[in-house]
This record gives sequence, C-alpha cells and structure tokens, in this order.
Amino acid sequence: MTFPVHRGRRLRRTPGLRALAQETRITPEQLVAPLFVIDRERQKQPTPSLPRHARLSADQAAEEAASLHALGVGSVLLFGIPSHKDAEGTAGYDENGVVPKVIRAIKRRVPEMVVWADVCLCEYTDHGHCGLIRNGEVDNDATLPLLARAAQAYARAGADLVAPSDMMDGRVAAIREGLDGGGYSHIPILAYSAKSASAFYGPFREAADSAPKFGDRRGYQMDAANRREALREIALDLEEGADAVMVKPALAYLDVIRDARERFDAPIAAYNVSGEYAMVKAAAANGWIDERRIVLEILTGIVRAGADFILTYHALDAAKWLKEE
Ligand code: PBG
Repeated sequence: MTFPVHRGRRLRRTPGLRALAQETRITPEQLVAPLFVIDRERQKQPTPSLPRHARLSADQAAEEAASLHALGVGSVLLFGIPSHKDAEGTAGYDENGVVPKVIRAIKRRVPEMVVWADVCLCEYTDHGHCGLIRNGEVDNDATLPLLARAAQAYARAGADLVAPSDMMDGRVAAIREGLDGGGYSHIPILAYSAKSASAFYGPFREAADSAPKFGDRRGYQMDAANRREALREIALDLEEGADAVMVKPALAYLDVIRDARERFDAPIAAYNVSGEYAMVKAAAANGWIDERRIVLEILTGIVRAGADFILTYHALDAAKWLKEE
C-alpha cells in the first residue's frame, strides 16, 4: 500500500504517538562511565583533552560514583594512573595499587555501583606498551600471567567485572584461569575483543599518560579495515570464556557492532572513545552543534546498531538529559 493510504507522518504527529512508535530507547543503566584514578588524597587533576573530566583520587572517585549512581548510571570503569612506572608495569598488579584502593573506596560509598576494572599494562609500563617488551617487541605469552595477576588483584579488592583491553592473544583464557584459581569464578570477563589501532584514542592517552614511547600498537590492536577479522576475534574470546565482548571505537565501527549483534548472543558493549567525545566537546564549545541533541543521537545510534551498553565519557550528562526527557 502506498500514498495516500500509507502516510508515515500519522505516527509522527504528536509526542505521544512518536513515543509509541519509538524503536530504540536508551537508559542510564546502559551507560558505563570511565574514570581516571590517581594514587593521591583529595585531588582532582583536570584532563584538558577530555573536558569536564579529571584524574581523581579515591575519595573524589567515590564522590563521582555517588553522583553517577544518583542519576541511574549503572557502572563505572576504572583506569589507574600510578605514581610509579617501570618496565614490567608492576603497579598494575599491586594489591595496594591505585585501582584496588579506588575499588574499595567506591564499594564502601556506593555498594550497588557495578565497578569495572580495565586490565592492561600500558598505563603502568614506562615504555607505554600494553605488554612486556622482549627484543624490542611486545611479548605476548610473557604478558599473560601479569594480566591474570592484575585481574586477581582487582577481583580481590571487590571489582564486579574485569575488562582486558590489552589485545594479547589468549588473555581471556589466562585471566579466566587466574580468576577461577584465586576463588573468583563468579567474576565476569568483558573482553575488548574487536579493538582497532585507532587515532581516536589520542585524548585518552594524554589523560592516562599511556602513549607508547616508541613504535605504535599496530602489532597487537586490529587493523581498522578488517570486518571479518573483528568477528573472528569476538568468536575466539567467547570460546576462551568471555562473558561479554566489546567493539571499540564505536562510531566508525557501527557495521561491526551490527554484524556482531547478528552473529552472537552474548552481551555486546561499544566504547564511545575519547576522540569521539573530544570532537563533540570541541564543536559544542564553539557553538557549532547542540551538544545535548548530538550526544543523545550518537548514543541512540550505537544502541540501534546493536550494542547492549555503552562506555562513554558523556555518561553523567547523558543520564541527566535522559532524566529530563
Ligand atoms: C588501554 C586502553 C586504551 C583505551 C582504553 N584502554 C588506550 C589504547 O589502547 O591506547 C582507549 C579509550 C579511549 O580512547 O577512550 N589499552
């Protein structure tokens, strides 16, 4: 049936009719707020590349988690910035390192908050790579036990979920084994499975002080051009025991999110990364876009593509705006 019997505008006429016909909805519970945390007391160090964000001491991170929780945001994701870096990234798996401390502080203050711990060595190594360096290269297999130790330390501190972002092969299996052996068989792994070597991580690396000191990450992160390989990475991580998987970045990779949604039943996360956030903030600061509408449209697009939840630096603002809608 075509015009004049079919009139698409009938269901767009009033806000009530539009709400009935709305296919995709986003809720604050689906949003995961990344937090950068430091081993200090009562400190907030601004991160110019990520406006409105800051590196937070444990007390400040707990405060931020409480604000997020009050707005309905379900999860926070922690990235630790240690006071000391070395070649082995030892601060990353220290039981009393920055992330375990902050996990404990957040859990004391907001026990219901789902606390995610990112597992990777790049913020903790002096060379800035995501694994150990042997003969000038990132040594995959030597890195695995360290990632497993980090995951154990975070689980012991009370993390609800660990999220390996290092892109070493076999890390999901190694972390699963480490968690199970340590008495943490109940802690889920969300794997950054399809993670591209992306220019969109620039603002994050500045905020986390984690840019590689030599070379780049193309030897372990994926080529942005590869759609089939992304699905293979996801399949392998699920076989190794990942409970949920991630596509990262989000906006230039919506096709991968859609493919993954159609191929797999596991929960799919999308990471609306730092460069995506910084572009929106810069354009908004110039008055070129309507930030609120742009952000909600972006988040809706990512969920429409097939993501179950979104890691986003817009989480706090978006949750506020969703409350007001
Ligand atoms: C650590 C890690 C990175 C991001 C998340 N975990 C940086 C990188 O891989 O270089 C990027 C997140 C963002 O840009 O928002 N491996």
